[in-house]
Amino acid sequence: MIVLGADHGGVSLKESVKKYLDSAKIEYRDLGTFDGQSVDYPPIAAQVGHTVADGKAEKGILFCGTGIGMSIAANKVDGVRAVVCDNDYCTEKARSHNNANILCLGGRVLDEEKAIALTKIFLGTEFEGGRHQRRVEEITAIENGKL
Ligand code: RB5
Repeated sequence: MIVLGADHGGVSLKESVKKYLDSAKIEYRDLGTFDGQSVDYPPIAAQVGHTVADGKAEKGILFCGTGIGMSIAANKVDGVRAVVCDNDYCTEKARSHNNANILCLGGRVLDEEKAIALTKIFLGTEFEGGRHQRRVEEITAIENGKL
């Protein structure tokens, strides 16, 4: 299961990505927002972040105007590795090298086609492990005050 969240700057792109998830029969939970009314992004990022960090969703996708605010906020939740991506290469590496578990997309940056392409890469790329496992564990060590 994938968990989704957006502010007003990302809500329209969230709807576009949902259309793709529906067509691909990928299960998701949408935590809102559901219209264009201005809302603050940090509480939504926190809800999605906790859902992923608690293992209630395999991955998350967050949408705001740029993707930046959502990623900064979501990364405050221990266990979250949120990434802002706008190209295929970084999205692939975010999964294969960084084991990113939340993708943040900019509703004022990306068109629908690109957002869906990045979503496919994010959901379809496995973490490589190996030397990257150690590095991801070192990120967790920072959260635990060990580094
Ligand atoms: C809202 O106008 C905008 O600041 C927000 O969507 C996001 O881009 C923040 O990073």
